[in-house]
Amino acid sequence: MDRILIAPSILSGDFAHMGDAVRSIESWGGDLIHCDVMDGMYVNNMTFGMPMIADIKKIAKLPLDVHLMITEPERYIDRFIDAGADYLTFHPDASKCPLETLKQIRSRGVRAGIVFNPNVPFYDYAELLLDCDIVLIMSVYAGLGGQAFIPDSLKKVEQAKQYITEHQLNMPIEIDGGVNEQNAKDIINSGVSILVAGSAVFKSKDPSKTIKQLKGEA
Ligand code: DX5
Ligand code: ZN
Repeated sequence: MDRILIAPSILSGDFAHMGDAVRSIESWGGDLIHCDVMDGMYVNNMTFGMPMIADIKKIAKLPLDVHLMITEPERYIDRFIDAGADYLTFHPDASKCPLETLKQIRSRGVRAGIVFNPNVPFYDYAELLLDCDIVLIMSVYAGLGGQAFIPDSLKKVEQAKQYITEHQLNMPIEIDGGVNEQNAKDIINSGVSILVAGSAVFKSKDPSKTIKQLKGEA
């Protein structure tokens, strides 16, 4: 089994103290810094854009896992890469040219991936996995932290796992939304190796312990 990575989301941090959130994630034993970019179009909320990513990059030791919830992400790919994204994922249903966008990301040496919202059937975009380095399955509707995990999303994980195996691909499956100490084991057993966690980590009394629990180490 792949090593389990935890990607705490700074969406649950204090936006007036983002540097502290990043340093905390690193001291708690997180593996990736998950950055949720929302544009008020593809999703209702707005968060932050390239300048925030660029400033986080200056202080972060861990790789930046940038999740774009924006309309026509192709317009901004180069600028997020210039800002320092190490992983760059986007929603294919928000893009006019998802295949070209994946190729554009990869051509810059950054890990590229697509994200499936709960209402987007896996087979609508499965073929794009041939050009991905990672696939992200949403276990809540993108747009808000602190929502409840949708159990059916594990069926999509199963479909992705099967497709990856059948096509002899080699990529991690990431999950995002409502992940906590109670459901992490089932998630990992279903084939996920990167777990995004916002509230579970940031609202924990002992975030280091929570990260270990999410990994199944405590
Ligand atoms: C939701 C975001 C998630 C969110 C997860 O749109 O993509 O990354 O921060 O937060 P929790 O873990 O609280 O569901
Ligand atoms: Zn996210």
